[in-house]
Amino acid sequence: MAEQPDWDPEWWSAEITNDPAYREEVLPLLLRVLSPIEGHRYLDMGCGEGQGMRAVREAGGTVVGCDLSLELLGQALASAPVVRARLPSLGWLATGRLDGAYAVLVLEHIADIEALFDQAARVVRAGGVLAVVANHPAFTAPGAGPLVDPADGEVSWRWGPYLQEGMSVEPGGRVNIHVYHRPLGRILTSAARAGWSLVGLEEVGVGAAAAERDPVLGRQANIPRLVGIWWENRRPS
Ligand SMILES: C[S@@+](CC[C@H](N)C(=O)[O-])C[C@H]1O[C@@H](n2cnc3c(N)ncnc32)[C@H](O)[C@@H]1O
Repeated sequence: MAEQPDWDPEWWSAEITNDPAYREEVLPLLLRVLSPIEGHRYLDMGCGEGQGMRAVREAGGTVVGCDLSLELLGQALASAPVVRARLPSLGWLATGRLDGAYAVLVLEHIADIEALFDQAARVVRAGGVLAVVANHPAFTAPGAGPLVDPADGEVSWRWGPYLQEGMSVEPGGRVNIHVYHRPLGRILTSAARAGWSLVGLEEVGVGAAAAERDPVLGRQANIPRLVGIWWENRRPS
């Protein structure tokens, strides 16, 4: 299985700086699905330059981050302690030490999600939380995209081969990144097998910030764009 290359830090920093959706949609969704509790200890899996860690800390949580990009970790260090690690390995963390773990826009870059759910269930205590914010699988399916009716401008969605799992290589600045598409059922089943009990799932369409910039996006408020999922750790100890 080919390994995910090191992220291009300049490209990723520009992406989150230039796209208001990260501040206005992604981070609020993270806070809704994680519901950080003051004093609780969280792991940010694939923390990037640290925007998720800042949001969780502002909400009162204590957080440690991990990522494979040394340069992004250098930036993230200003927000919280960080460790260089290649997910899904969490061998550097003791069993049951954390109250929760989360991953924002990372699950779709991990080849082995079974191992990630398994490792997260090991490092999070019984009853702790796992939260994932990801591009919705209806959006990541190869060939999926908006269809605009020329007659009236109505936007519908082309699903592409939604049920077919696969990996695509997409440009990410100086490197090509790996994006894995899996139907929602595969994600939920993998998590359940690792001991994660589903608490909630929120599907989100294109928000106001993006809609303002692009009229076609503006007509996608009711088409899934992001998904937020949260679970409780019920793995037998
Ligand atoms: C789309 S960015 C999201 C970053 C951050 N969570 C945020 O929301 O700003 C994906 C991040 O996952 C990291 N990443 C991708 N594959 C990884 C892996 N196997 N192990 C650790 N980090 C990984 C990348 O370096 C990058 O920082």
